[in-house]
Amino acid sequence: MSFQDLIPVVNKLQDIVINTNLTDLDLPLLTVIGSQSAGKSSVLENIVGKDFLPRGVGIVTRRPLVLQLINIDEDDSLIYKNSNGSSVNHEDLYNSSNEGLTLEDHLKNTITNNNNNNNNNHTPLNEWGEFLHIPNKRFYNFADIRKEIENETARIAGKNKGISRLPINLKVYSPKVLNLTLVDLPGLTKIPIGDQPTDIERQIKNLILEYIAKPNSIILAVSPANVDLVNSESLKLARQVDPLGKRTIGILSKIDLMDHGTNALDILTGKVYPLKLGFIGTVNRSQQDISVNKSLEDSLQAEEDFFHNHPAYRSIANRCGTKFLAKTLNHTLMNHIRERLPDIKAKLNTLMGQTEQELASYGDLDSVSKENRGILILQLMTKFATNFINSIEGNSMEIST
Ligand code: GDP
Ligand code: NA
Ligand code: MG
Repeated sequence: MSFQDLIPVVNKLQDIVINTNLTDLDLPLLTVIGSQSAGKSSVLENIVGKDFLPRGVGIVTRRPLVLQLINIDEDDSLIYKNSNGSSVNHEDLYNSSNEGLTLEDHLKNTITNNNNNNNNNHTPLNEWGEFLHIPNKRFYNFADIRKEIENETARIAGKNKGISRLPINLKVYSPKVLNLTLVDLPGLTKIPIGDQPTDIERQIKNLILEYIAKPNSIILAVSPANVDLVNSESLKLARQVDPLGKRTIGILSKIDLMDHGTNALDILTGKVYPLKLGFIGTVNRSQQDISVNKSLEDSLQAEEDFFHNHPAYRSIANRCGTKFLAKTLNHTLMNHIRERLPDIKAKLNTLMGQTEQELASYGDLDSVSKENRGILILQLMTKFATNFINSIEGNSMEIST
């Protein structure tokens, strides 16, 4: 068992935490922060390799977006469409048509392989998104995902620039992504002169702090390279909660927009600002690129070419750009999980004690109402995940990163 296998389980646990409000489980998360238009959404989209995030001038991201990227094998990912065009989804957890299966069997199947349908007349599709607030619906069109994020933002946070701390939870399944969980947060507005932030600024700051203050949060602090690093809002905020720079990754965006004759080599090689996890430079699509619909693939290639051909960055080109960022993130997350594993396990054990007591109090499963059944299922999932973690821990000697 490789350590990589742990991450899907942690993602599953994340669901459980969200579903059951077990907020004290504190699983690791990568949180993206930065001032408005720093390039946050662009960085995230490049990591995912899809155009799907709402973009625009002003406050666009107004609710936290918890984004789980789940890597699936090309083979496992073949799913099919019915002749009527609707997708064949995994069984509804609350649908009891599978009488032969125990709940635990059912859960195991759902967790380990939800693509067992073998309908004819199929079109293979291997990338999709799923929202927690719309269970069992797969979004194959990433433009629809963007629309749904916008609608769901407006539904809770209103249409007039309000923000909400209630997160939107989105999973993206694809053979092309690394296993990562990311949180996109509303952009920091400029810190106003004087001592009186408007209410919205205070709200955004508090919301960001709520996420990054947790020791389990790995902070992706985006700073535009064409603004003096001294003025970086994201680094200022990150430093408040991570003064030693142990869990902050600096992302220097817009490297292509620096003044001629200047470069970010000193920052990227760690000579300017101390971060244990370092700074990674990125070049993402400009507004011009977006208006002419430059593809993400072309953008990634252009980014790679930029660093390899630039006299200042040529020597460190293999440590620059989106690809290296994604690898670094995955590696950092795995290390983080490994460090937190004993803690997570202890918390889960406590949780299980409570869960088992609760289960006992329910008595016979058949007599449980549909609603309570959902709770029971989640509790069984927790148990399943606990066992899984235990089995991984038993194999911890094989874990290498
Ligand atoms: P966010 O507000 O932090 O999410 O920033 P966005 O990702 O929406 O980017 C804001 C603007 O900056 C958009 O017009 C992007 O096209 C542009 N932009 C982002 N990254 C880069 C970059 O690396 N180079 C250039 N030239 N433009 C960028
Ligand atoms: Na931003
Ligand atoms: Mg944005």
